[in-house]
Formats: sequence, structure tokens, C-alpha cells
Amino acid sequence: MKDFETIKRIEDKFQVATYKKMNIAIERGRGSWVWTSDGEQYLDLYGGHAVCATGHSHPLVVKALQEQAEKVLFYSNLVYSDVRAQAAEKLVSVAPKGLTKAFFCNSGTEANENAMRMARMATGREKVITFSGGFHGRTADSISATFLGRYREIGRPNVPGHVSAQFGDTDSVRAVADEQTAAIMLEPIQSMAGVREADPLFFRELRNLCDELGIILIFDEVQTGIGRTGNWFFGGSELANNVEPDIITLAKSLGSGVPVGACLVNDKVSEKIKENDLGTTFGGGMLAMAAALATLEAIDSESMISNARAVETYLRDALTGLPGISGIRGKGCLLGIAFEGKCSTAHSTLLENKIITGTSSDPNVLRLLPPLSVTLDELSKLVSVLNG
Ligand SMILES: Cc1ncc(COP(=O)(O)O)c(C=O)c1O
Repeated sequence: MKDFETIKRIEDKFQVATYKKMNIAIERGRGSWVWTSDGEQYLDLYGGHAVCATGHSHPLVVKALQEQAEKVLFYSNLVYSDVRAQAAEKLVSVAPKGLTKAFFCNSGTEANENAMRMARMATGREKVITFSGGFHGRTADSISATFLGRYREIGRPNVPGHVSAQFGDTDSVRAVADEQTAAIMLEPIQSMAGVREADPLFFRELRNLCDELGIILIFDEVQTGIGRTGNWFFGGSELANNVEPDIITLAKSLGSGVPVGACLVNDKVSEKIKENDLGTTFGGGMLAMAAALATLEAIDSESMISNARAVETYLRDALTGLPGISGIRGKGCLLGIAFEGKCSTAHSTLLENKIITGTSSDPNVLRLLPPLSVTLDELSKLVSVLNG
């Protein structure tokens, strides 16, 4: 087995340096824990980048993958598949009731690109409104929809037809919405921007505006979806004032670490989509579908959604009022700890104490995106480090 310095040297030499990495190499994981090449054990409260909803290598997911791998790894949507049928049925069964069909793809950015395309197809219009502070991915259309930091700049030349409004401010949306607008797309909790939330009434006002002008409402639930907020989805829950969007986009948690993306759509949208309008070779592949099905079943059978609510209650109670902490933001297992100053010291102190957390584009906000299965006992380790 190679030591950390050797792994780092080889990876730095042969991989394009696109991420600022932590100085650890992960070798295996189980539940909320990961083990490094040096045999050290870390508590992962960042969930492998908001991905490992069921915890690392959940036994049901691993078993489903092993069994599927023995049968067939892949065939595309040119054929039917039992595991794809089951995954689609299960996903739609937990979705807000108006969202009746799934389109499978491979990542969050791809789900958003397809959602915007469906909105344009359904309306015959081109303009898309998104929000300052929202993050939607790094491919051309999604990065053009991302009015956060310098992302749009990285994505130049941008796709035309994107305009922005202020998150939580309906008047700013009304100022740019019109009968040329195909879609309004938003992250219902702006995670990367520092776990920014809007009043539930905002979602009702957006729904009304969309209905009035014939605009498709898209919730990018790449982070908030699949139980993370203590609801299967933000859309349709009390967090959104029970508002159902026309499309929900998903990725991250859906496959417990196996790349799977999806768009959940209502009949108004799906009726407008015809053969060959959308597609992707790998979307809906058997291995990915086995991962998605097992993920949804594990979340259900182990009551992880109610656990996500318990996580929020516990952490709000334990962290509110601690010295240096000015507030707790977010819902369920998508939480931001706002510090009075920069959160970088807390982030590195926690890492020294073998607890992985995330930063955000707000320098004062530390993000927690733990597995939905994280226990309160595990979280007490975070509390005691932050308590000094
Ligand atoms: C809200 C949101 N949308 C879209 C994406 C893009 O997802 P992916 O990296 O799978 O393309 C992300 C990724 O962080 C995200 O947080």
C-alpha cells in the first residue's frame, strides 16, 4: 500500500489541478466514517461533497451493486430494464404528486441543462431567469445560469438568454419576467452561497407568477433533494409553502456515490417532449439504477428523513449561542454554521480533530452536509470541538 506522500505526488503529477484538496487520501468508508491511507479515521460531516446520503458504502447499496454487476453492467434506453422500471417507479412514488415522470442522466449540471431544454421545448421560448447566489453546474448552459462569484466568467462565451434576479425578492423577478421567459430556475436553499434561505411565501409568489405568464418553474434540488432537508424534496413540502415546481432536478445523493442525475417532470412538460428530443448514452444504465433504487429503499427503511430533522434540531440546540457562532442556517442535513468572523480557522481545527466539514463562498459560513444516517452521538464530537 502506498503512503500518503507518494499518492499525493503521483496524483498532483498526473491530474489537472482543479480542486484545493485536503491533505488526506481516502481508502475506505462506512456510514459517517472514512479511513485514510495512513489508517486514520475521520468523521465525514461533508458526506463526500453532499453525495453520500445513505452513508459511505451502505450495505444495501453495495449488495445491490454487486448483484447488478454480476447480471449486466449496462444497456442504454434502447431496451427496457426491470431495475430501471423499479427505480423510476420508486422515485416517482416519493416525488410531489404532480411530478409523474423521470428523465435519467448522469450529473447535476446535465439534469439542469435538460430541465432548461425541456422548459424551452414546452414553452417555445428561450429566456431563463435564475438568481444571484445560485449554483447550477459547470457545463455551458448551467454555468451561464450561475450568477455566483466568477463562475459565469469561467464559462465564457455564455449561452444567451440568461438573466438574474435577487433570491427571495419577487419584485426583482417581476422586473425581468415576461412572455418570452421559458423558465425560472432556483436552488431553493442556496447551498454554495452560504446556505441562504428564502421565506416560504417567496415560492408561492414564484408559482403564481409562473402560472400567470406561462413560465416553467424549476427547482434545482441537486443538493436539497432525496431527503436532505428532512423531506423527500423541498418542492411540495411545507418549506416551499407546499408549492410544486414543474421540474425538479436531482443528482448527488440519488446514487449514494454512483453518478446518477435525474429530472422529475409534470405532465404539462412531459407531454411536450418527443422521441429523440433528449438523450444520453449512460442515463438510466443498470448499475446506476441499482444504486438509485437501493438508495431510495435504504432512506425509506431506515427512516433517514426523520433522522435528518433530528439532526437539525440537535445541532441548532447545541450550537446556538456558542462563542464565535452567530447563527445556524438551513434545514435537515444541509446546514450552515455562520461565524462572527471567517470560518477557515474552525474548518482547519475540525480537520485537525479528524472531522471533515465544508466551506462555502461566504467566508463566514461552514457547511455541514453529513450522511442522512449520521447519529447524534457522532455529531456530539463536532459540538465538543466547536465548544473549545
Ligand atoms: C445545487 C447544485 N446544482 C448543480 C450542481 C452541479 O452538479 P454536478 O457537479 O453533479 O454537475 C451542483 C454541484 O455542486 C449543485 O450544488
